[in-house]
Amino acid sequence: MSELLARAAAEFGTPLWAYDPDVVRERIARLSRFDVVRYAQKANSNTHLLRLMREAGVCVDAVSLGELERALAAGYRPGGDPSPVVFTADLLDRPTLRRVAELKVPVNAGSPDMLEQLGRVSPGHPVWLRINPGFGHGHSNKTNTGGPHSKHGIWHEDLHESLRHLDRYGLDLVGLHMHIGSGVDYAHLESVCEAMLKQARMLGRDIRAVSAGGGLSVPYEPGAPEVDVDRYFDSWDAVRRELESEFGHAVQLEIEPGRYLVAGSGTLVSEVRAEKRMGPNRFVLVDAGFNDLMRPALYGSRHRVTALAPDGTPRPGEGTDTVLAGPLCESGDIFTQQADGAVDFVPLPAVEVGDLVVFHDTGAYGASMSSTYNSRPLAAEVLLSAEGPRLIRRRQTIEDLMALEEPAEA
Ligand code: LLP
Repeated sequence: MSELLARAAAEFGTPLWAYDPDVVRERIARLSRFDVVRYAQKANSNTHLLRLMREAGVCVDAVSLGELERALAAGYRPGGDPSPVVFTADLLDRPTLRRVAELKVPVNAGSPDMLEQLGRVSPGHPVWLRINPGFGHGHSNKTNTGGPHSKHGIWHEDLHESLRHLDRYGLDLVGLHMHIGSGVDYAHLESVCEAMLKQARMLGRDIRAVSAGGGLSVPYEPGAPEVDVDRYFDSWDAVRRELESEFGHAVQLEIEPGRYLVAGSGTLVSEVRAEKRMGPNRFVLVDAGFNDLMRPALYGSRHRVTALAPDGTPRPGEGTDTVLAGPLCESGDIFTQQADGAVDFVPLPAVEVGDLVVFHDTGAYGASMSSTYNSRPLAAEVLLSAEGPRLIRRRQTIEDLMALEEPAEA
């Protein structure tokens, strides 16, 4: 794999996102007990990965007009049960409202206003209700999507207003959905299952499906445990079976992971461009910044790194404590930091300018959260296979960067 990454870097330049599609397929297979696996494409919305998902029988979720159009570009077509595409958000902007109404894409409503606005233009539209059960959790406060401090979902004690909109516009209630945050912990798993049962009973309406949302963790740190998918399934399957016996018909069980399907498939390959000391501290500077990989700067997340010679040979040795940083003109452009921004270290072997530093498990929320800050073009993306790397998104050019601006030169 290291040799393949080095080949890809030599051919397409750095920084470079590289994905191994076999890892994605293997991840999908692990979730096969669920009736519907719905990929939360915000984790990585490259149309080639979406196409891979579709060919593997995975449905998709979209949270914006752009994501909806990406799903269509990857060959997803609205219609059918389960719906190949569901739109999930807390609001509908005007262009998106028009498009979901036109395509009849089911809407997973995160606010009563969405139901009202949708009902007015598209009576009878298929909808889900995303419920905020009153609690949440996340690997960071920024990824906790439940409880009274979260903007997500319809508050569990306020469903009456949504039900009024359902009735007034004859909206077709497909199912109930809960996503309380990213990063599983089993205490919350049981609470959210209980909350779902309680809500479904209180609702007093027939539903055809329930969604467990996303949030399945991946082991970013060496030795961190894998999520127990069977335990996860069994808890939700019990909810489903309860509901089936109450309704007297089948209820589909959906899961909506993003990270779990793609994180481990992806690496960010960067090149060492400078090394220096700041008093006692060793700094290694690479040509990827937080505009490429934002997670460390935003959440204090850590990604495993390895150092390779330009031909892909791993650099030997345990390594010495190193601050790993990027090229941006901002002190936070450091890949080794704590959640409060305090500088931290990673053991890195001796490297030379021209070596590669590979950031592992960056297939989720890597490329999809990149920006062009400091006017740095978006990096290229490749798919890896035995035949070699294949370009699936070219590197942005400087011309692309300025293409939207009116010419400034007189
Ligand atoms: N469903 C809904 C409604 C969501 O809001 C999300 C993620 C997911 C599913 C998928 O969650 P996952 O399985 O990937 O944990 N940028 C952050 C993660 C933000 C997640 C936002 N919503 C990160 O880099 O960790």
